[in-house]
This record gives sequence, structure tokens and C-alpha cells, in this order.
Amino acid sequence: MQVQKRYTEVINRKFPEAVVIAIAKDQKGKYNPITLGWTMITSHQPPMMAIAVNLNHYSREVIEAAEEFVIAFPSSEMAEAALFYGTHSGRDIDKFKEHPVATEPAVEIDSLLLTDAVANFECKLEAELETGDHMLFVGRIVASHVNTDPTVRRVYTLAPGYKMGAVRPDEN
Ligand SMILES: Cc1cc2nc3c(=O)[nH]c(=O)nc-3n(C[C@H](O)[C@H](O)[C@H](O)COP(=O)(O)O)c2cc1C
Repeated sequence: MQVQKRYTEVINRKFPEAVVIAIAKDQKGKYNPITLGWTMITSHQPPMMAIAVNLNHYSREVIEAAEEFVIAFPSSEMAEAALFYGTHSGRDIDKFKEHPVATEPAVEIDSLLLTDAVANFECKLEAELETGDHMLFVGRIVASHVNTDPTVRRVYTLAPGYKMGAVRPDEN
């Protein structure tokens, strides 16, 4: 049975939601990470992924200018960093300086990979679409990297209020 309710109430049933961190270089030369839950794979051949970035976020202008970005799948151990990058703006601070994590240069684009992430995808901006209050950035994946440790798990938002962890209860 289904009961009709307000969208804002119903959408809270989406959790757990996978989290990514997108990293792009700003025009001052600073690499800026942003944490995102609104993300999806959009094509297999060629491989593409999309991220939805609020029109007012600093990352919106950074990605538009850079035309390239990394999408990292942070591990459950990176929950604190994901929360920090998702609650501070690169307009005000250097997020990697204030909350450092291990990084390494991307191979095909000018951006950074997150060394301890489950995976990293280097993307060239293929298309963008304004959808309401967010910009949808579609990236064509030009290089993919996976953690050599097969036991690392992705981090998810488990409930409203940015409660984050792994999806299996014994991993939280
Ligand atoms: C778990 C989590 C998920 C988030 N998902 C999104 C998202 O999908 N889209 C978005 O625009 N902001 C999202 N945010 C908020 C941004 O990460 C946050 O506003 C960030 O500070 C923007 O950084 P910037 O100003 O450097 O671009 C999320 C934050 C968290 C903690």
C-alpha cells in the first residue's frame, strides 16, 4: 500500500546514500574537494558519471572553469574528512590544508586522487545542465584507479543530518 505525503518527508527514505568527493583545481591553483550525495553513473560506453552541485557552491564555479574533476569514492574510514569537505567552503578556506588526507596527482587531468579512497575516476567535463537549484555536471571518465586493498568499503550517509558510515551494521 502507498500513502501520498509531502516530498520532503518521502525523500528521507532514500538512505543509505553513497557519498563521493569531487576534486577540481580553482583559478588560484588550489585543489578544492566537495562532498556529494547526488551522483550517478550515466553511461557505460564511453564511461560517464554525473554530479549535482548547488548553484551557489564554490565548486560550481571551480568545475565550470576547470572543465575537469576527479570523482573519488571515499572509504568508511574517511567519513570525518567527507563531513569536513561537505560542511566548509573552498571560498573561505583551503580544505586540504585544514583537514589533510593523503593525495596523489591525477594522471590524465590536473587534479588530485584520494590515495585511501576505494576508487578514483578522472573526468573531463562533457556536459552541464541547470536543474532547478543544482547544476548537473556530466564527466567523461578518462582514467580509473582502485585501492590495492580489496577490503576497503565505501562510506554512505545513513540518515538525515549527515550521519555517515559503512552500510553493513558490523562495519559502522
Ligand atoms: C554527506 C554530504 C552530502 C552532500 N551532498 C551534496 C550534493 O549532492 N550536492 C551539493 O551541492 N552539496 C552537497 N553537500 C554539501 C556540500 O558538500 C557543502 O555545501 C560544501 O561545503 C560546498 O563546498 P564548496 O563551497 O567548496 O563548493 C553535501 C554535504 C555532505 C556532508
